[in-house]
Amino acid sequence: MTKTLQSVRGMNDILPRDIAAWQALEHVIRQLAQQYGYHEIRTPLLESVALFKRSVGEASDIVQKEMYQFQDQNDDILALRPEGTAACVRACIQHGLTYNQKQRLWYMGPMYRRERPQKGRYRQFYQFGLEAFGQPDMAIEIEQILWIHRFFQALNMTDITLEINTLGTIAARQHYTQSLVTYLNNHFDALDADSQQRLTTNPLRILDSKVRQTQDILNEAPRLFDSLSEPCKAHFQAVQQTLDALQIPYTVSPRLVRGLDYYTGLVFEWTTDALGAQGTLCAGGRYDGLVAQLGGQDTPAFGFAMGLERILALYTSNTLPTGPSALGHVLCTDASCLTTALAYCEQLRSAQSQMSWVLDAHPFKLKNQLKRAHKAGADLVAIIGPDECANQQIQMKWMQQPDVATQWFSLSEAIQYVQQHPSAQAIKE
Ligand code: HAM
Repeated sequence: MTKTLQSVRGMNDILPRDIAAWQALEHVIRQLAQQYGYHEIRTPLLESVALFKRSVGEASDIVQKEMYQFQDQNDDILALRPEGTAACVRACIQHGLTYNQKQRLWYMGPMYRRERPQKGRYRQFYQFGLEAFGQPDMAIEIEQILWIHRFFQALNMTDITLEINTLGTIAARQHYTQSLVTYLNNHFDALDADSQQRLTTNPLRILDSKVRQTQDILNEAPRLFDSLSEPCKAHFQAVQQTLDALQIPYTVSPRLVRGLDYYTGLVFEWTTDALGAQGTLCAGGRYDGLVAQLGGQDTPAFGFAMGLERILALYTSNTLPTGPSALGHVLCTDASCLTTALAYCEQLRSAQSQMSWVLDAHPFKLKNQLKRAHKAGADLVAIIGPDECANQQIQMKWMQQPDVATQWFSLSEAIQYVQQHPSAQAIKE
């Protein structure tokens, strides 16, 4: 027997029953991005592998283990994008978008990482992100944090924690990494196996370790903050004072280092306890060196991305509007009426943009058509059979309100009825 084909592990279909929630979320995102003056950019799903090696970093988990990459027929080595920032920067340089100008961009779409799939962690997942270029100051950092705060408020999402840290310049971090490695080498045997391996590949990520014994060792390790320059420390203090003044709660997490190499200065994550191990909803920070590193003009940059599956797993579905408000079924009960039913259905669709109309024709059996309309949750049905065709009428029936009597209308009356009927209006709102 032939085996039924399945989607790739960790890559999910988004089914019609879930689409309304996705679209509602996307609507909130689009509106807020626009309100803060951000413009959408769409980049390809495939990029050259070199882009991610040079930005996310050769030693990062993403590049080491998680990229879907392949050689195409021209021997180009390509990867499905694991994140959006690098491609955004590549596009900015390629099209001169950030050359001597500020730029505020947003993107939304699927990203790909070959991680071990579990609840909240997928191999294809959707990210939304904001990236601001050309602004070295704190204003843009606070403004993006305010954006996220407003977004969570709009979705009525509570119990989310903002964690912040500062990573300093790349040079300061390299200097710190040396002293961290020296310290950890002295405790090598007591480290967990992962951390032992990271000591040579990506020592800073050891700070992220969740292993108790490693954490105990880290408690006595040199602190990144102590090795930062005075202006960098002052900047971080100013960020905290501004967040206090704006009443945005946060915690300082000195071990928050992020898994991508391009960060400098302020980094942050918004987390929740409600999603188990995959509790990071959104993360980002400053990456002032990346544009120049990828061949562009020296350009300060700050941004973040959020995982949409995780947001959708959290918000309560009744807090967002869900798609077109009312559904109508046109029931064509006889083959001889099909052309009329098709034409009337078009007219009803033009009458009210908030209402969806579905034509139910073949098989032409009214009883079953009514059952199907009921099952689909239709609010209103318009019945067109031989009698209605002969009299140029439509029979209208409210499915959810059995006490409202069935009525016969001409097409123009039916259009007016749909536009003006209080129930249609109420549904429309
Ligand atoms: P990231 O921390 O790798 O940062 O990912 C951002 C968010 O994407 C995470 O907080 C999480 O919500 C979601 N996410 C990541 N991996 C998965 C997965 N396997 N399944 C489901 N959701 C996931 C970045 O990607 C940076 N580009 C963020 C950034 C933008 N920094 C500056 N600008």
